[in-house]
Amino acid sequence: MTDDELWTAVDGYFDGALSPSDPALEAALKATQDGGLPNIQVSAAQGKQLNLLARAIGARRILEVGTLGGYSAIWLARALPADGQLITCELDPHHAEVARANLANAGVADRVDVRVGPAIDTLPQLEGPFDLAFIDADKASNADYFVHALRLSRPGALIIVDNVVRGGRVLDADGDTNARGVRRLVDVVAAEPRVSATTIQTVGTKGYDGFLLAIVNS
Ligand SMILES: C[S@@+](CC[C@H](N)C(=O)[O-])C[C@H]1O[C@@H](n2cnc3c(N)ncnc32)[C@H](O)[C@@H]1O
Repeated sequence: MTDDELWTAVDGYFDGALSPSDPALEAALKATQDGGLPNIQVSAAQGKQLNLLARAIGARRILEVGTLGGYSAIWLARALPADGQLITCELDPHHAEVARANLANAGVADRVDVRVGPAIDTLPQLEGPFDLAFIDADKASNADYFVHALRLSRPGALIIVDNVVRGGRVLDADGDTNARGVRRLVDVVAAEPRVSATTIQTVGTKGYDGFLLAIVNS
């Protein structure tokens, strides 16, 4: 068994035990695939981690950068109270259309606002405060999105950035655009006294990767 096969099997074991069958999420994945969108959403285990973190801090307003087909948005929206709000930014109009249908099918469309366009144009138009931000779009812009998320965050808010390990390629300072985007993000976070941050390395169905997790100091 390869490492990938083992990590996938372990994800399957825990998902089977702890995250029972979920028709809305499964339908969202199928619609994402049928719509020709890439298979790059968070795993079920990671989606549930996002959901649990949002619930743990009692999040009422959540910001997401990078919607795709709305899979992580469904997990996040489910953590919100009925009058809560998730604003999720997506560049591609077709991705946004698939996401809106998936969010409606999951029964959370009333609390999710999908904003179409480059996130770097959408973010300056938003007003805070947000309780949690999840950044998962073009990795080269991670640092810019983090700066906006911080501006929009309340004290005590969480800012989570996906795909910061990239199979270990983050160690290569001369690496690809995505790895360099992560390293620029880390430089910005490390120099920012208003946050405390760490990373969580993960393995599973999505291979070897990880989240950066920052809390906005009170
Ligand atoms: C990794 S996917 C998001 C996955 C989603 N968070 C999930 O787990 O279900 C990244 C998304 O970011 C979008 N994206 C890429 N560049 C963007 C930009 N400049 N502004 C907004 N969205 C962008 C892509 O079109 C894609 O749908």
